[in-house]
Formats: sequence, structure tokens, C-alpha cells
Amino acid sequence: MVRKERVRKKYDRWSRFYDAFDLGGVNDQKKLAVDLLELSQDSLVLDIGTGTGAIIPYLASKLGKNGKVIGIDFSEQMIERANVRIKKQGIGSKAEARVADATAMEYPDRHFDAALATFAFTSFPEPEKAIAEAARVLKPGARFSVLDTGKPPGKAGFRYRYLKAVMWRAGYTNISLDVPGLLRKSSFKIIKLHRFSGSFAYICLCEKT
Ligand SMILES: C[S@@+](CC[C@H](N)C(=O)[O-])C[C@H]1O[C@@H](n2cnc3c(N)ncnc32)[C@H](O)[C@@H]1O
Repeated sequence: MVRKERVRKKYDRWSRFYDAFDLGGVNDQKKLAVDLLELSQDSLVLDIGTGTGAIIPYLASKLGKNGKVIGIDFSEQMIERANVRIKKQGIGSKAEARVADATAMEYPDRHFDAALATFAFTSFPEPEKAIAEAARVLKPGARFSVLDTGKPPGKAGFRYRYLKAVMWRAGYTNISLDVPGLLRKSSFKIIKLHRFSGSFAYICLCEKT
């Protein structure tokens, strides 16, 4: 089985207990990633690799009746859960979750006003392709907020090397992927790189050029 299919099946299996892990929940890091988008009420926003769609209600809370958030994920089971959440919260008029591959989306060029990707690219089998696709569907000037994990600046310590090995084995996650570097190489200008102290997480806020 190709790696992409293995990863997709893994997330299908994990969807049942994904929200029990901190990564699947909504924390201050994810909220800050959304806040930095400075959405307007009528924004059309894309959440790439939405998982169970945990952040969708927070995104939707920033929008008015003409705004919309679309969460995409290639795991059918994740999307099923995201849609149950949307229904339960009664936000179906401004949110939807769809099964889609982030490397080949059905949306036209320059379609979205903003996008979010939380803990997505380091777990994607083809991150470069997904970043190029995000660039394609975003309007020029659109903000893209990426929350992910990476090598902390300075000397990478034992903790990081250990975590990297564990993460790779457990989830095919490449936590040392240089996502800001890939964004820069694609058509994004980095506005801000916010590192959380005592954490491997960072937010890379960029703008589509
Ligand atoms: C680590 S989870 C992050 C989920 C959510 N954004 C969060 O912060 O909890 C990564 C998600 O990306 C999805 N994914 C991986 N490769 C993908 C692809 N090519 N297209 C769409 N989704 C993908 C997985 O199915 C999984 O739900």
C-alpha cells in the first residue's frame, strides 16, 4: 500500500479517539492561529486537514451570515465526525466539512479569502503539493495561518530527537519538516513566525502574494 493510503487509513482508525488527545482539541494555540487571520464577517475560509473539525465552531464564530468555513480532510471518518459536530452545534448555515485531498482540491483558483492548517503539513504524505494547492485556491493578499511543530531554534536537544523518532514511528509525522521554508518557496510571504516557548509548536502567519 502506498504511504498516502496508509496515512489515510490510519486517520480513519484514529478518528474514534482523536478528540481525546490534546492535539485534536481546541486550545489557545489553535485559537490564536484563527485570531491572526483577522477574518471579516463575510470571509470564505478553508481549514486544510480539519480532522474532526474541532476548530470549525471557533472559526464559524468569527463569521456573519454571509461568511462560510469549509473544512477538508481526506479521511472519511474524520469528516463524518466533523459533520456531526457541525450539526450538533447548529452551525450548518456557515460551516461544512468535506472529504477532499488537499493536494488536488475541486475549488477554482483564487477562491478563498483565508485559510488555516493546524498540525497538518507535518503529517501530510505530500506537503509540498498541498502547499502549492493552498496557494492556488487562495486569493492574492489572503492570509494563511499555519500552526505546526518543528525543530526549535538553537541546538536541538535530546527531547526533540526522541520526540521526532517517536512521532515518525507512531504517526508518519515529520516534525522536522521546514514548513515555513516550504511556504516561502511557494507563493507566500511570511508576516509573522510566532514560536511558543517551551513547546515545539509555532504559528507561521503568511499572505498569498
Ligand atoms: C494531525 S491531524 C490534524 C487535524 C486537525 N487539523 C487538528 O489540529 O487536530 C492531520 C489531518 O490531516 C489529514 N490529512 C493528511 N493528509 C491529507 C491530505 N493529503 N488531504 C487532506 N487531508 C489530509 C488527516 O486525515 C488528519 O485528519
